[in-house]
Amino acid sequence: MSLRHDFPRIGIDAIALAVPRRFVELTELAEARGIAPSKYLTGLGTRRMAIAAPDEDPITLGANAARRLFQRSGASPADIGLCVVGTETAVDHAKPAASFLHGLLGLPSACRVFEAKHACFGGTAGLLNAVDWIASGSARGRAALVVCSDVARYALGSAGEPTQGAGAVALLVRERPRLVEIEVGQTGTYARDVYDFWRPLHHKEALVDGHYSVQCYLDALAGAYGDWRRVAGDGDPLARTCYHVPYGKMARKAHRHRLAMDGLTEQAADESFAVEVEPSLDLPSRIGNIYTGSLYLALASLLNAEARALEGQRVGLFSYGSGCCAEFFAGRIGPEAGALVAALEIDAPLDGCRRASVAEYEALRQGDEAADRRPAPEGAERGGASLDSRVVYLGLDSSERRVYANE
Ligand code: CAA
Repeated sequence: MSLRHDFPRIGIDAIALAVPRRFVELTELAEARGIAPSKYLTGLGTRRMAIAAPDEDPITLGANAARRLFQRSGASPADIGLCVVGTETAVDHAKPAASFLHGLLGLPSACRVFEAKHACFGGTAGLLNAVDWIASGSARGRAALVVCSDVARYALGSAGEPTQGAGAVALLVRERPRLVEIEVGQTGTYARDVYDFWRPLHHKEALVDGHYSVQCYLDALAGAYGDWRRVAGDGDPLARTCYHVPYGKMARKAHRHRLAMDGLTEQAADESFAVEVEPSLDLPSRIGNIYTGSLYLALASLLNAEARALEGQRVGLFSYGSGCCAEFFAGRIGPEAGALVAALEIDAPLDGCRRASVAEYEALRQGDEAADRRPAPEGAERGGASLDSRVVYLGLDSSERRVYANE
């Protein structure tokens, strides 16, 4: 039985990305690590990983994605009454990423800002809270800005290394959304206390029980999808489904697992995968795992490839955050989404990226800890609110406050 209430139409009105300036070709990483490239390309379904330089971090990526969102969507920072930043690679134990963005974007003072951490689920926690904030009436006509921003790091040479990535996705959430109307109040949820992926306070790099984490993801998918089927009841079939994509093969495993619950064989699931899932994997395969933004990178990919063809159709969305919490929900692509996606030029930020050698990547990683401690240049000016320049990280001032500038 459907529990649908008469909520206003709420969802994602616009989307924008930011990526670091460099990426590594995984064929070159495989060669450097003495691994068959086919393991990364076919076995994991990955092609490239974006890597952050010392002047790029989750704040610069998040601010740059949000600035682009305002530039391309026609929305203004003055429209925003809630700003949530989902990240699991925060730059400060206390000061929230959302406060940095509040200043760098010039958001109104009457604006609720906070950071959401729940491994890769933090962005979805932000999005669904933003939707509920609007549905409750608290928004009073204002929009929400949800930014998912992370730099994924595993130890050099570890099994997780080829699944790294870095980047941010900014979402504008409001009533009468042009891109994806979310089915409000009809999410399927699953949570369980597991130790599949973690990062102790003194670690820059994540630790993971890799194969166990895959099983936890699949268990969580079964729990959330089962709950969603109960809550959402019968409805149009899902034309496409976007999954959390730590690496492309995980989406294939997820699709098989989900369709098995609907009684489909592995062969049938693989046949539908090419149509229903593959269009969402282009950007994740070119950028890597961006943790909180991974599901929304998959959605951006799908919209980029097929928005016009999917107008009016229903898509499924699955978010998984280690630890763990997962949510399955659905949305409908807007009737004029195709034209808007063309104007948003979603993947344009990738055009300016350049290939880094494995040696350059390793050197950048060695500088990681130092970047968090380096002093900002003497007399460096902090960047104020701006929408048309790129934010960079300079270092710490004499009171160990992070200094950001507009380039
Ligand atoms: N050619 C083609 N395929 C090959 C191959 C070759 N030469 N060699 C191996 N493969 C295949 C394997 O058969 C395997 O395929 P299946 O998964 O279909 O069985 C695949 O490549 C991977 O091989 P392994 O299982 O041997 O790989 P691994 O143990 O070295 O590492 C991993 C895999 C555990 C996922 C590792 O990449 C990892 O730890 N990643 C980080 C954790 C992660 O992403 N977990 C996902 C779920 S948790 C989550 O989603 C949250 C999050 O974002 C982190």
